[in-house]
Amino acid sequence: MRRVAPSLLAADFGHLAAQIQAVEAAGADWLHCDIMDGHFVPNISFGLPVVAAIRRYSRLPLDVHLMIIEPERYIEAFAEAGADIITFHWEAAPHADRVVRRIHQLGKRAGIALNPATPVEVLRDILPFVDLVCVMSVNPGFGGQAFLPHIPQKLQRLSALRAELRAPVLIEVDGGVSPQIAPLLQEADVLVAGSSIFQAPDPAQVIALLRQASPLHTS
Ligand code: DX5
Ligand code: ZN
Repeated sequence: MRRVAPSLLAADFGHLAAQIQAVEAAGADWLHCDIMDGHFVPNISFGLPVVAAIRRYSRLPLDVHLMIIEPERYIEAFAEAGADIITFHWEAAPHADRVVRRIHQLGKRAGIALNPATPVEVLRDILPFVDLVCVMSVNPGFGGQAFLPHIPQKLQRLSALRAELRAPVLIEVDGGVSPQIAPLLQEADVLVAGSSIFQAPDPAQVIALLRQASPLHTS
């Protein structure tokens, strides 16, 4: 069953607890937290105290997407703040294997995110050891951007690599995802969506539509 992870970056931060409750009631499976440092990406979002606050208001798995340089410096702190899945960028971590091991030592699930220009083949040697690959379908840094058209092909290549390696990894797609785009994302096990959920008059309907197209492979 495909999971839907609303990105809280698109929420009204002045009413975060209420927004969390609203997407939970609307059927969210995970909560996606976008951490931006103003270095790896040209924007600053929120950090540890906000993740800890989100943790206090929800029992859903927290899917923490680190768009930060030197992610290894902050893995432990985000684990303590309540992250369940910790995803870092391949482009920000020359020692990705070490970062994955550290996340697992802390008892959390490890994800690796790829920028739109990074080919999936770079993951060949590490894919069997990670829990999730986050395929960025916009250049990270901002919500509300347009989905990039080369991503469906990239998902097919990642899905083929996963099958070849028999890697039990979840494929997540993040950026510009809407019910109109969802049919192009058959390989995705997890869809992240910010604006399309939080700006909708009926978030429950959007979440249901995003979930509708089941992934080809479930892991
Ligand atoms: C982009 C973030 C995404 C973003 C998604 O840098 O990683 O998670 O918030 O928002 P939408 O769905 O509005 O593109
Ligand atoms: Zn994200």
